[in-house]
Amino acid sequence: MKKMDDIDAPVQDNSLVWSDARLLGFAPMDDVHKEFYEVALRLVTCTDTNALAAIEEFERHAVSHFEQEDEWMRTTDFPPRDCHIEEHEGVLKSVREVKVAIEEGRAGCRLAQDIGVHLFQWFPGHADYLDSALAAWMTKQTMGGKPVVFRRKI
Ligand SMILES: [Fe+2]
Ligand SMILES: [Fe+2]
Repeated sequence: MKKMDDIDAPVQDNSLVWSDARLLGFAPMDDVHKEFYEVALRLVTCTDTNALAAIEEFERHAVSHFEQEDEWMRTTDFPPRDCHIEEHEGVLKSVREVKVAIEEGRAGCRLAQDIGVHLFQWFPGHADYLDSALAAWMTKQTMGGKPVVFRRKI
């Protein structure tokens, strides 16, 4: 029989492939998180020919991903929003530094691949500790209850 502790335990893997184990139960956020995996994978697998396109695409994703979450936090007065917003800013700053280095020819695909790997290492902790709290909060705001997550068998 399953113990209570085994249910909904945070998933601590740095897999480069989306898994439904990463669903947080707030569909608009889950959709954006699936997209994160797609665009971050293109960074990890980029070549010198498409490194700039890959980092530009990731930057566009990050801007809309983070702006959307920041807006949810601000418009609903989500109490612990400051550190979450700051973490988004820090990631976007690093992404922009990499983009400028590639634009100026100071770096190539190795740097883009490197930040891609770091993004995959960063995401699980961010999602488990910050995004999951926001997902629960947003579900409560919109439906008056806690999120219910249906996962395919993994
Ligand atoms: Fe997120
Ligand atoms: Fe976030």
